[in-house]
Amino acid sequence: MKKLLPLALVSACLLAAPALAEDVLAKHKCNTCHDVAKKKMGPTWKEIAARATPADIKLALEKGVKGKYGKAAMPPQPKAVADTDAIVKAIQALK
Ligand code: HEC
Repeated sequence: MKKLLPLALVSACLLAAPALAEDVLAKHKCNTCHDVAKKKMGPTWKEIAARATPADIKLALEKGVKGKYGKAAMPPQPKAVADTDAIVKAIQALK
């Protein structure tokens, strides 16, 4: 039984990872303007994952971004800056 426990934990983490990744985007209401595959006011997460580096993502949260994907601009997301690392992982997981 002792040998099974770590295995169970690892599988639990693997199952939980994608759900957590999307949670951080939902928590900050990023999904109001972004969706995985459907174009909303902002580009899709897939488009962003393909084009944005972690530094781009950080800058978008801190300062906002405009003119890169289309005409709409993204306002800065100061409350999300503290979660930058989780957000970068979440977006890259949606590739
Ligand atoms: C009011 C709508 C809106 C909200 C809310 C919003 N975004 Fe955006 N986002 C946009 C738009 C519009 C663009 C495209 C800007 C452009 O063309 O330069 C964008 C672009 C981006 C980019 C691409 C940056 C780059 O340099 O390639 C990232 C990353 C991003 N958003 C992440 C987020 C995250 C994370 C959140 C939540 C914390 C969020 N956005 C919330 C509208 C929004």
